[in-house]
Amino acid sequence: MTDFKNKRVWLVGASEGIGRCLAKKLAKAGASLILSARNEDRLRSLLEEIDGQQHLILPLDATKKESIEKVWNEIQSLNAIPDIFIYNSGYYEPMSATNFDFDIIKKMLDINLYGAFSTLAKIIPAFIQNHKGHIVLVGSIAGYVGLPRSIGYGASKAGIINLAESLNCDLNKQGIRVQVVNPGFVKTRLTDKNTFDMPFIITADEAATYIFKGLCSSSFEIRFPWLFSTLLKILRFFPYRLYFFLLQGLSRNTSS
Ligand SMILES: NC(=O)c1ccc[n+]([C@@H]2O[C@H](COP(=O)([O-])OP(=O)(O)OC[C@H]3O[C@@H](n4cnc5c(N)ncnc54)[C@H](OP(=O)(O)O)[C@@H]3O)[C@@H](O)[C@H]2O)c1
Repeated sequence: MTDFKNKRVWLVGASEGIGRCLAKKLAKAGASLILSARNEDRLRSLLEEIDGQQHLILPLDATKKESIEKVWNEIQSLNAIPDIFIYNSGYYEPMSATNFDFDIIKKMLDINLYGAFSTLAKIIPAFIQNHKGHIVLVGSIAGYVGLPRSIGYGASKAGIINLAESLNCDLNKQGIRVQVVNPGFVKTRLTDKNTFDMPFIITADEAATYIFKGLCSSSFEIRFPWLFSTLLKILRFFPYRLYFFLLQGLSRNTSS
């Protein structure tokens, strides 16, 4: 069991949904938190809920290099390099190739994938220098395979999974732990946009409980719910003919 009492956690994407619930669990376990996202008011209200003098709010926009630079300088000047870095920021718009909208796709890639790269550019050298650290990237089971109406989002999350795998290969020997979190459907403002039935949907608090438990485990991947994530994982190994046949069925059943 990880002892969070002496740990400082930088959680990017802490203001809403899964990140907000996870922040509460980490604070309850005694971690010192650096809470980041764009919405400062929502971060302040979170701080009021979690009690404790040791937490910091450092708002940032993960798509803006200068915003990350500013926060990183503050972290360094406060001598507050984290032990654990969690990149949870995300944006989703359901999109079919028949409504291909590059601006929205770019927004998803900028927040979900390039934001992770930009923040990691600060964290990784510091962790290497200290010969320790723990990196957690939030992906999605939508990153396992190409799914209907997942243009942009699916690619960004496949990128996160691939990135986490590469980081784990390269950083393990440096004493740095890497984990990837792949949730199924979770009820948040992200999925409130979906007009189709979402199988096995869980609450943000349940998702945060899975993540919290996973952080304490030795697994590389934290995925949930078990049955749904296993079914999608198995799909990866199907021959393409069968795979597309099954997804066409899914596409018909989930059409809005
Ligand atoms: N909900 C699901 O079913 C589901 C499934 C699989 C994976 N996920 C992933 O889980 C993560 C959390 O999602 P959620 O469902 O909890 O969504 P959410 O409630 O919309 O929360 C997203 C978080 O990302 C932050 N964020 C968005 N744009 C940002 C930016 N430019 N810079 C910094 N932070 C930014 C938001 O804060 P601000 O708006 O204040 O910036 C918020 O704190 C995401 O990575 C998502 O892709 C969710």
